[in-house]
This record gives sequence, structure tokens and C-alpha cells, in this order.
Amino acid sequence: MALWAGRFSKEVDETVNAFNSSIAFDARMYAQDIRGSIAHAAMLGKCGIIEASESEAIQEGLKSILADIEQGTLVFDPNAEDIHMFVEAELTKRLGSTGKRLHTARSRNDQVALDIRLYLRDAMQKIQNLITELGNVICDTAEQHLETIMPGYTHLQRAQPITFAHHLLAYGQMLRRDRERIADAVARMNECPLGSCALAGTTYPIDRHMTAELLGFRQPMANSLDGVSDRDFCIELCCALSILMTHLSRFSEEIILWCSWEFKFIELDDAYATGSSIMPQKKNPDVTELIRGKTGRINGDLITLLSMMKGLPLAYNKDMQEDKEAIFDAIDHTELCLKTFIPMLKTMRVLKENMRNAAAKGFINATDCADYLVRKGMPFRDAYKITGTLVAFCIQKDLTLETLPLEEYQAMSELFAEDIYQAINLETCVKERRSYGAPAPDAVKQQLADLRVLFNQS
Ligand code: ARG
Repeated sequence: MALWAGRFSKEVDETVNAFNSSIAFDARMYAQDIRGSIAHAAMLGKCGIIEASESEAIQEGLKSILADIEQGTLVFDPNAEDIHMFVEAELTKRLGSTGKRLHTARSRNDQVALDIRLYLRDAMQKIQNLITELGNVICDTAEQHLETIMPGYTHLQRAQPITFAHHLLAYGQMLRRDRERIADAVARMNECPLGSCALAGTTYPIDRHMTAELLGFRQPMANSLDGVSDRDFCIELCCALSILMTHLSRFSEEIILWCSWEFKFIELDDAYATGSSIMPQKKNPDVTELIRGKTGRINGDLITLLSMMKGLPLAYNKDMQEDKEAIFDAIDHTELCLKTFIPMLKTMRVLKENMRNAAAKGFINATDCADYLVRKGMPFRDAYKITGTLVAFCIQKDLTLETLPLEEYQAMSELFAEDIYQAINLETCVKERRSYGAPAPDAVKQQLADLRVLFNQS
């Protein structure tokens, strides 16, 4: 018999029951559901809405249910409609009519709105910790490559010299913002919907501030309709995960490029690469490809949430049951990606020589050549044009700016002197780029120290 049996003269159709049921995916919120119910029962007792002894019995009963689920002695009933119904039915089974008092001044609408918030708060803490771990691996690796010169790219064309540390820390900064973004969204979510009840609050003298405080929320939500009917926090957190995944995906794409024979800037550890079933020579970066692929899936979860909400009248609608699979999927897969990416990055071998060799080709010091002329008094546009002509000449003669004879320089401008070779030396080019946020080793060292602090503060 369903809990709402009084109003109905027939059993619900089997197919509808199965269709309606969410226990298969919301059972994972059991601990949060029980935690919320314990706070609710404590409040009902304190406010004299139920007897103190009943409140005690309910809280003890809920604790024993939690222990039994955790020990595996109580298994979820797949026929229960959802986790909320399951826990309540189990409590009533254990306590008889005292159990039936738990749902006073409460609805599944505020219950589920509470449970998801509690669940997301816990889950996001895990993601935050993983981001911190990744941030530290990035900082550790960068520390070893403050002077490792590589070409920086625009349009995937070699552009200007940078260091590997500088490149890595760009991702470090993105991930630092991801961590902050999640923290911001969690802080915004941290208001308690419990006590909104079905939609219109209640006539019982409940104490919403008490439950909010017991459950670690900043305050109760100010509007009961809003309390049960918005899922903006799911959307916002999913969006934060999409952005995080976008960063991981770009990083992954670069790793895929870097371990190709065309680049060979890094070598993945054998434990984090895979072979081919037919081509004996292959070593494939499956992990990073899968991360790139899963980013699309998480974007899909975000679109699911946005589309599910866009036409809903206030307050609760059953459509909103669809929120959980989407946000849980986004969390699960982001977590998996981070857990795999971290050790992969940590164990990858950096092939400095190949980076340096790539930097030596492609005229990435051309800007520095132009800047040399500017320092000697020439307007930048003229210096730019002369350097462009020199580059074209080098390409034609199969030379580099380093191997171009001084006479050829001087044929273009008499401002050129022997010190041009020092000015276009790649080590000099990097060392001289000391504007704030630039790749000069000293500047990057400072950036690294600041970033470490930001990653490790709570
Ligand atoms: N399983 C439901 C959900 O996930 C719980 C709330 C149900 N409320 C209701 N009035 N049917 O949204």
C-alpha cells in the first residue's frame, strides 16, 4: 500500500510505479536524508510539536537505520518510491506509530531540496580536495622547470619563448579559479530549505533557525516557495564542473599533442598509457582522450538541468526529480577524471631537450629582434617590418636569426651590432620578459609561491 493510500481507491499501475521511482539513483543520499531527519526530529521535540521521548526514539531509530545501511545489514528496497519513503517506512517498521510522527511539519519537497544540498556540499568538498591535490602537482612540476624553455604558441604556430613552468602555471591559475568558483557556489547554496514544507510553510510552531544551524547552514531560506522549487544551485555547480572539465580538457588536448611524435615534449608513464590491439609500436594517451570526451558529457548534464527547469511553474514539479541523475553524473565523472589525471601528470616525463629544440626553430625570437631595434631608437612599426624582411631572408637561405651573419643584419639597418646575438638568445628572451605575470624565471617563481598559498588555504 502506498503512503498516500487514503485518497486512492486503486493501486498505482506497476509501470507507473517503476517509472516514478527514484530510489535507484537517490539512495546514495541516505546519509544526508537521515541527517536531515534527525535534525527535524530534534526540532519537533524541542518545539513541543512531538513528545521529547518520541523525538529521542525517532533520532535513535534513524541512527540505527544509518548504522545498518552502512554495515550492509539493511538493503534498499527497489520497490520503494524514493530514499525518503524508504527511510520513513523503515523507521515506522522499527518504531510503530512513533515513526509515523517524523513527517509532521515536513514534506518530501523540502526534504529532497535539503538532501541534495547536503549531498552536494559533501561531494564538492571532495572535488575541492582533488583540485588542491592537482594544483600541488602542477606547482611541484613547475618548480622543476622554471628555466625549461619551450615555444609558446598562438594559432598552434610557434610564437614567443616561454618556460614549461609558465605554461603549467597557466593551468594552475585556471584550476585555482575553479576551486574558488565552486567555493562561491557552495557558499551561495548554503541556506536551508527545511521547513518550507510542501510549498507554503506550516501552521506548526517550527524553529527553522534551529534546523538550519544544526545542519550547518548560514540561515533558513527566506521564501518557502523558493525553498522547494529552485535548483539553481545544481545548475551553478554543474556549470562550475563544466568549466573545470573544459580546463582539464584543454590540458588533456595539449598532453595528447605533446606526446605525439610530432612534438615529443613529454612521455607518459607506461601505467598511464595504453597499447593498440594491432599496431605493436603504439602508445596511446587514452586517459587524456577520455577526459576530453567526458567534458562533452558533463556539458550535456548542464544542458539537462537548464532545460529541465526552464518551463516549470512554481513550486515543486516532478520534473525536478531528473536533477539528481544529471548532477550526480557530472560529479562522478569529474571526480574520476581528476583522480586519473593527477597521477598521470605526476608521473609524466618532461623531454626538455625536445622543447628546447622546438624553441630553436620557428623564429620565436623575432619580436625580441624588433624590440632590440626599438631599444636603439627605431619606432616599433619600422623595426617590425625590418625583422619580417630578415625572417623571410632566413627562410629563403635556410638560416635562423641566430645563424644570420651580422653583415646581413647591418644591410637592413645600421643600428644592428654584435650584441644582437645576445639579445635574441632564447635564454635572454625569457629572462628579460619580467613584466608582471610574464615568464621570466624570477617572476614565475613569485607566481608559483603565491599560487601554492591560494591552493592550500581552506
Ligand atoms: N523523489 C522526489 C524527487 O526527487 C522527491 C520529492 C517528491 N515529492 C513529491 N511531491 N512527489 O524530486
